[in-house]
Amino acid sequence: MSGNIFGNLFKLTTFGESHGVAIGGVLDGCPSGIALDFEAIQKELDRRKPGQSAIVTQRKEPDTVEFYSGIFEGKTTGTPIGFAIHNTNQKSKDYSHIKDSYRPSHADYVYDKKYGFRDYRGGGRSSARETASRVVAGAIAKQFLKDIKINAFVSQVGDLKLEKNYTELDLSMTESNPVRCPDPEMASKMEAYIKDVKKEGDTIGGIITCVAQNVPIGLGEPVFDKLHAELGKAMLSINAVKGFEYGSGFEGVKMKGSAHNDQFNPDGSTRTNYSGGIQGGISNGMDIYFNTAFKPVATIIKPYETIDKEGNKVQTQGKGRHDPCVVPRAVPIVEAMTALVLADFMLLERTSKL
Ligand SMILES: Cc1cc2nc3c(=O)[nH]c(=O)nc-3n(C[C@H](O)[C@H](O)[C@H](O)COP(=O)(O)O)c2cc1C
Repeated sequence: MSGNIFGNLFKLTTFGESHGVAIGGVLDGCPSGIALDFEAIQKELDRRKPGQSAIVTQRKEPDTVEFYSGIFEGKTTGTPIGFAIHNTNQKSKDYSHIKDSYRPSHADYVYDKKYGFRDYRGGGRSSARETASRVVAGAIAKQFLKDIKINAFVSQVGDLKLEKNYTELDLSMTESNPVRCPDPEMASKMEAYIKDVKKEGDTIGGIITCVAQNVPIGLGEPVFDKLHAELGKAMLSINAVKGFEYGSGFEGVKMKGSAHNDQFNPDGSTRTNYSGGIQGGISNGMDIYFNTAFKPVATIIKPYETIDKEGNKVQTQGKGRHDPCVVPRAVPIVEAMTALVLADFMLLERTSKL
């Protein structure tokens, strides 16, 4: 399996399976001298960890990260940062029913066809447990980025959609509820809806909006490695993601150019920001904002029909502990991937001009 590395200069490699000994990573290219705030790293992991509320999977993992290298006296040394998170709460027998059959719309069938042999326990490498390593690296990237603020929040669950723009919301409210929606009224509707869906043994999708502020002008390489293309890749690499749009996105097609053009202020900032902070693949100093859509995930507790390895019809149902809606736990993952992209471009930007 290739493709376990993300980034060019600020580069993360992850390893591990859901029910293996541990998951972890090696973060290469992180500059030396960053005094790491370990509590902040653990806090990010706690935002992603299972079992944190009634509307997420009840798997109980402490998700404590252990660092093995690249750090001395609390500071990064510039050498590879190796780390791991031990898996402590696996219930592999919950997955014996999918040993010889495939969950529709999960990765079971394609893994079997591609590799001919798969670790079916907890979805193996296809499990979103892998994203905990991204959150560790992203938390380090956030500390490298210092003044750049990255805030993600849940803006839609099923049909329940926040109609307010991020500028009209108090983003400090995102962590005030288990859904991670900064509008408390909408958050409680979303929470009640996720609970209803869970009771039915079903799942539901949602959208995460992410905003990056104080991003300097010039990040992004304007041909193949456009800033929005790398953000798109980062988001689309997260499990269960189905869509990415930035700035005016798909809605922008309804506007005429005269209305859509972001008119300049004398200081180079713009009066509107339909560009989403990126023009020609390069950050323009305005807020970068984008939406990432997550599907209703595959493992449903309701009975469903599928096929086994021989193609015979099988009647089955999900067992064990699963997420009825993944967006509350995916908020820190979206932020982490954003931080990794921006950190990589910050380093690359140093090569642009003398
Ligand atoms: C935070 C998070 C938690 C997830 N939890 C589950 C889960 O409990 N059950 C499930 O079937 N899929 C879950 N997924 C999604 C699967 O990992 C994903 O759908 C699967 O690997 C197939 O990949 P695809 O949906 O991107 O095609 C989760 C995804 C995220 C981001």
